[in-house]
Amino acid sequence: MGLRGNLWVISLLCLSALTEKALSKGHYFNVINYGAKADGRTDMSQALTNAWKNACASRVSSTVLIPKGWYLLGPVILVGPCRSKIEFRNKGRVMAPMNPSAFKGPSWVNFRYISGLTISGKGTFDGRGQVAWAQNDCNRNPNCQQLPVNFRLDFVNNTLVKDITSLNSKNFHMNLFQCHGMRMQNLKIFAPWNSPNTDGIHIGDSSFILIIHSVFGTGDDCISLGSGSRNITISNVFCGPGHGISIGSLGKYKDEADVAGITVRDCTLSGTTNGVRIKTWPNSAPGLASDLTFENIIVKNVYNPVVVDQEYCPNNNCDKQGPSLVKLKNVKFHNIRGTASSNVAVKIVGSSAKPCEVQIGDINLLYHGKGGGATSICHNAKAVHWGKQTPLICPR
Ligand SMILES: *[C@@H]1O[C@H](CO)[C@@H](O)[C@H](O)[C@H]1NC(C)=O
Ligand SMILES: *[C@@H]1O[C@H](CO)[C@@H](O)[C@H](O)[C@H]1NC(C)=O
Repeated sequence: MGLRGNLWVISLLCLSALTEKALSKGHYFNVINYGAKADGRTDMSQALTNAWKNACASRVSSTVLIPKGWYLLGPVILVGPCRSKIEFRNKGRVMAPMNPSAFKGPSWVNFRYISGLTISGKGTFDGRGQVAWAQNDCNRNPNCQQLPVNFRLDFVNNTLVKDITSLNSKNFHMNLFQCHGMRMQNLKIFAPWNSPNTDGIHIGDSSFILIIHSVFGTGDDCISLGSGSRNITISNVFCGPGHGISIGSLGKYKDEADVAGITVRDCTLSGTTNGVRIKTWPNSAPGLASDLTFENIIVKNVYNPVVVDQEYCPNNNCDKQGPSLVKLKNVKFHNIRGTASSNVAVKIVGSSAKPCEVQIGDINLLYHGKGGGATSICHNAKAVHWGKQTPLICPR
């Protein structure tokens, strides 16, 4: 990272220090004072919305506080801009309505148009997705009901998200859209391995996001980076179970923004279907994803630890007439080691129209099952090697 890269990391660090300081003299807006009941069954959405409105209008930095206790919360939209910095601190266990019909929009807790937001508090947000998962037919019904995401952040800048737990979301746990400058740390995000579409964090059209020191166990990607993701760093993340850490899927829609400057490092994946992955749809619109680095990755019992799939087609219902037109450029895989649970440790399937450009450094992936050791697949790739590779990957 250059000087500018360091500067944005430093400014994100300062952001957390500033928020701490502001808090000590800021004003509290306790939801109990707005009529919330810690009884686990009275919907506090109106109380929270009112507390938020007052906090957001405060001239000095303010904190919306959910104290210890159990709460029921229906869908809320918490809107800015706010007059000063604002913190949303949850110390309780906040539960969503079980029935998906209680939701009219695609989110449970939705933050919009805010700059200087902190989400904190060591509390838990329980999406109680079990009923919704059982009804989810999105793998065969393209017009399926859009289920609510636990947290949706739209147009939110200069944000710190820390210490919270997100459980059993009906859909993704967190979705970031048009967010710039965010540090996410010490998060715990969990849903069962077989819960559909419960991605941990999905990012789109957003930049300068840091996800660090966090633990994910989900039924889909732990983290997925969609179109328009730029300057994103993910480090010290544990993922498992789940589908791994993914860039994509890209190229499904026309006019998708490019992806650039993604670093995934010092992460561990355990018992996941994929480790680190890039996926683009066949017969796609043109696009570009560049400067993508995956390094210092440990995999334990991961089905396909390294995947580039430019013929991505889940549920087998896409048009495979043409190749993907998303160019993958300056992709690096370096120091990736551990064990695979299938013999295909590395799968690189590029596009016949735009071969992917990959650099492959030290790789040491072992397979201990029947039928020989770890192997690799390589199609339509321009590979440059350094260091040692086990298995051999895209050999000349
Ligand atoms: C967030 O940052 C973007 C890009 O710098 C800017 O265009 C947008 O107006 C900002 N939004 C808010 C809510 O501050
Ligand atoms: C953001 O990513 C781009 C693309 O990799 C890179 O050229 C640029 O230097 C990065 N910016 C910062 C401030 O890190």
